Amino acid sequence: MSKAHFGLIGLGVMGENLVLNAERNGFSSVVYNRTFSKTQDFLNGRGAGKSISGAEDLQDFVDRLERPRRILMMVKAGSATDAVIEKISPFLEEGDLLIDGGNSEFRDTERRVKELEKKSFGYIGMGVSGGAKGALEGPSMMPGGTKASYEALESLLNKMAAQVEDGPCVTYIGPGGSGHFVKTVHNGIEYGIEQILAESYDLMKRLSGMSCDQIADVFAYWNTTEELSSYLVEITEICLRAKDPTQGGAVVEKIMDKAGQKGTGLWTVVSALELGVSVPTIYASLNARVMSSMKGQREHAQSVLNRPTIVSFPMGSPSDGMSLLMDAVVLSTIASYAQGMELMRAASMEYNYDLDMPSIAKIWKGGCIIRSRLLNRIQDAFNSNPKLPNLLVDSWFVEQVNSRLPGLAKIVSAASENGIPVPCFSSSLDYINSYGTARLPQNLVQAMRDCFGSHTYERLDKEGSFHTDWIKG
Ligand code: 6PG
Repeated sequence: MSKAHFGLIGLGVMGENLVLNAERNGFSSVVYNRTFSKTQDFLNGRGAGKSISGAEDLQDFVDRLERPRRILMMVKAGSATDAVIEKISPFLEEGDLLIDGGNSEFRDTERRVKELEKKSFGYIGMGVSGGAKGALEGPSMMPGGTKASYEALESLLNKMAAQVEDGPCVTYIGPGGSGHFVKTVHNGIEYGIEQILAESYDLMKRLSGMSCDQIADVFAYWNTTEELSSYLVEITEICLRAKDPTQGGAVVEKIMDKAGQKGTGLWTVVSALELGVSVPTIYASLNARVMSSMKGQREHAQSVLNRPTIVSFPMGSPSDGMSLLMDAVVLSTIASYAQGMELMRAASMEYNYDLDMPSIAKIWKGGCIIRSRLLNRIQDAFNSNPKLPNLLVDSWFVEQVNSRLPGLAKIVSAASENGIPVPCFSSSLDYINSYGTARLPQNLVQAMRDCFGSHTYERLDKEGSFHTDWIKG
């Protein structure tokens, strides 16, 4: 029997779809799952009639693979990934490649890379984005590890990835845990945009009294624009139009308002804090999920805290995409991307990842959850200035900010007056206002720090470190 080109461990929905993707692209495959019955079910179901076989144990699994072996692990991040690595390592030989395609914490990947350095096989930590559909039809992939390991995988990944006009949505990201770091930041931006779209739905519902179908029409319009055309806007329209099959009415209105999370948004914010990068839009989206989970407390608080009576506010007409609201959505989305890109730039310097920003923008243009037309502009911005300190100062984005900032400010103000929380809109507004202010009031913070703790301060008019004897006597 001829040996298979590709091996997959972990038959969750992502694993199943990725192996079907590889097989469809001409890579015969062998699969292994901890519970063999799951392997059998897959081979008798979605895997039937395909060049995919199943192995009952790891020895058999590796024996069925051609060398050098290419093995993708799609298992739960954390200890489950460590357990698989430990079990399979003794079977792997010189030149073989083990890929972790899960949402691993990038520090775990760094640790594993170090631990596995002495082994003869290669290790790749690869972010995979696109959900179940993307995995099957073509995801965006962010592989990190040694360049040589990547090159040995390139032909496989190029075929499996989503394709955009300038090539496949996969590229070599950098060494160590860089692939998982970039995927983590991708998810942070994803959290931000999801919350921004949720806030816009809330405002259309509560400030303009629109139905889910009417709101969906606005999302449909936004999806035709250069600034907002994106996968997340597209699926928001779909979510808003879906009807409850038993009771009728929009399904979305029947869903409990508590958002879950699996960790990547938190890791983005923790990394940003560690690296001293300002990511308020992303942080606000994470905090909004935390706040949403406190359903019982919020119900009680609403009964005791005064809430303003909502007064409708003109945000534009649905046929022109609610122009003021669109300003808020566009600028907040730009802020979310800007913060993510800035975080990657800082991480690249701190961890020597040597990230190529235009390439990252390129591989996010297809397959992944944050794919959008805006990424063309982001790619152009970093292509014309690879050292761009922040997207907000690229000429195209400057025009967006200058023309849309009054709209964002009006929306935040109207929401505040009506007691409607808009954490991402207001954080984005503050982010842009702070970034665009040459003189901030932190001179006074420095004065206080020096006053109570002699922490010293710098001056505007001369070099050096200064202390004032604030409280004389
Ligand atoms: C992707 C997604 C995916 C992520 C989910 C859920 O790029 O395909 O980012 O990897 O796991 O979106 O994430 P949360 O449960 O944390 O929202």
